[in-house]
Amino acid sequence: MSYDCVKEIKELLKWNDQYRCLVALVDTQHKGILDFINDWCQQLMSTRDNQFDLAQFMELKIGYLDRYSKTHLRFEEEMLSIMVTDFGFPKEEYERHVTIHKRFINEFMVNVNTQMQMLNQRMDKDMIEHLAGDALSDVARWWYGHIKGPTDKLLAGPDHVYRLYLQKMAAEDLVALLNRLLQGTCKFAS
Ligand SMILES: [Fe+2]
Repeated sequence: MSYDCVKEIKELLKWNDQYRCLVALVDTQHKGILDFINDWCQQLMSTRDNQFDLAQFMELKIGYLDRYSKTHLRFEEEMLSIMVTDFGFPKEEYERHVTIHKRFINEFMVNVNTQMQMLNQRMDKDMIEHLAGDALSDVARWWYGHIKGPTDKLLAGPDHVYRLYLQKMAAEDLVALLNRLLQGTCKFAS
């Protein structure tokens, strides 16, 4: 099987310096998710082994995606809430962003999991590959759409809104925000 839909989206998953947001922890997490999905695409397209258990492979990847996404989105929400309370970031934009995250966790990922449960019903090989390719392509498109900046044809994703805001913040405010985040992560770790 060619996994055409996956091949198509793979090009979009490369890290682009336009995605940098001045908060290195967020950049590292965004790069991490894009690299992870990119490797996932590569592994799916390069597998030729008849013994390969595609259902189990997808289950492992989706489990990791689920845990990684929840941790990252929580961190991003924490940063945005500090930006609202201390640095004037618009509350409506924060709420819009959190709603998008909630939809991802409570609707999008639930749908992906449902698609994947069908893989375990031992349907024919072509159908399993078709479902796996579609699910991965959907995941890749969601994350690309969330992180990306504006392009000739497409509007920017929601992360671009706070990126622009961070770029306009005074240097001392940015340092204060980073300190607050650091205190939060230390608390989280202890
Ligand atoms: Fe986000």
